[in-house]
Amino acid sequence: MVATTVPGGRPPYFFLSPASVFVLLCGVMAAPFQSGGLIARHVRDIPRSGIREFFDIVQSMPDVISLGVGEPDFVTPWHIREAAIYALERGRTSYTSNLGLLKLREAISASVEKNFGPSYDPGSQILITVGVSEALDIALRAVVNPGDEVLYHEPCYVSYAPGIALAHGVPVPVSCTSENGFAVTASAIEKVITPKSKILVLNFPTNPTGGTMTRAELMQIADVVLHHNLLVITDEIYSELTFEGEHVSIASLPGMRDRTIFLHGFSKAYAMTGFRVGYACGPADLVDAMMRIHQYSMLCASVISQEAAIEAILHGEADTVEMREQYRVRRNFIVNAFNSMGLPCHLPRGSFYAFPSIQSTGLNSKDFAVRLLREEKVACVPGSAFGPSGEGFLRCCFATALDQIQAATDRMERFVTRLRAGQ
Ligand SMILES: Cc1ncc(COP(=O)(O)O)c(C=O)c1O
Repeated sequence: MVATTVPGGRPPYFFLSPASVFVLLCGVMAAPFQSGGLIARHVRDIPRSGIREFFDIVQSMPDVISLGVGEPDFVTPWHIREAAIYALERGRTSYTSNLGLLKLREAISASVEKNFGPSYDPGSQILITVGVSEALDIALRAVVNPGDEVLYHEPCYVSYAPGIALAHGVPVPVSCTSENGFAVTASAIEKVITPKSKILVLNFPTNPTGGTMTRAELMQIADVVLHHNLLVITDEIYSELTFEGEHVSIASLPGMRDRTIFLHGFSKAYAMTGFRVGYACGPADLVDAMMRIHQYSMLCASVISQEAAIEAILHGEADTVEMREQYRVRRNFIVNAFNSMGLPCHLPRGSFYAFPSIQSTGLNSKDFAVRLLREEKVACVPGSAFGPSGEGFLRCCFATALDQIQAATDRMERFVTRLRAGQ
């Protein structure tokens, strides 16, 4: 840079020589691009799923028995896979309507009415989605305005709080306890309601606790919903895996159908996690709002998967019953094993998760899970991954072969005995 004086005695000014310009430009061009700084604030604050983080460690270890990932160990029943193959053979490889195949929506309408009660028009009140995951995401995005409070019971599925935050809502957890089987009470909900409360998310049977609700308990929740003019989003993905008592959907209770978005899917009941099909039923205006997000983000669910889902919903009931009965045997075994080794475990009345308390060991759930993995090669998910109310518990998925569960619980008993001996 060179200082010079303008003829006529004015103060000196600076000009950049070509060499200086070149040096400066190189400096600007070489500055590292801070891509991380571009991430939206509400996304930056989203934590990584505690489950995935944990299973990254599991992947790197040989000979681990996993009671971790929440998916059926069964392969999708053959006739359902065959329907997918047949769809391909017929060249069914195109887009479908944004709402999904009409034949599938008609079958869903009949099935939901028969099994849950409420009736939905296949033309305007049912939307086929890419799993319940997408249905939940677009349901929240369709109804949440920034700052709206969304209530949900906790411990809960890992997506709920981040999904609410991504929709610019405020997540409001309602704690549930093992003393009442992890059901949510009307009074606990009532305590956290404010003028900003807009939506209540329910998931019964519950991931990760296996909690269920009786009709009488749900009636009390429905009273609170009506009294405070809330909308309900109910995720009933485990409903077919109910072992005791009737499964009641809140959408079937008086006054609730028109203020409920009912979510369901094929992943758990038919062992179809990889097909990625789910659906949402609800009032036509809300389904239309969800459809407008869906059409610009997903367009439609895979046609091959939708064809397989038609086969599942029309002819898959016996498969579901058979799988459920196997889960029941495994559930009885694992719950008994936990209670016998001094880890109190309530009986999950639905889903395929046991949720024993590990509080008596003196370890927190993450330390317990990490040491169990390192010392005995058994993978379970720390309860804290499902929200602060899950601390002190462990999620153990029993959608795993019985001999594996047997071996896992033997190892866990050895581990707990060692802990108690102070080793
Ligand atoms: C409660 C709950 N809802 C939704 C999902 C996601 O289901 P899908 O495979 O249909 O996206 C899961 C998966 O574990 C779940 O546990």
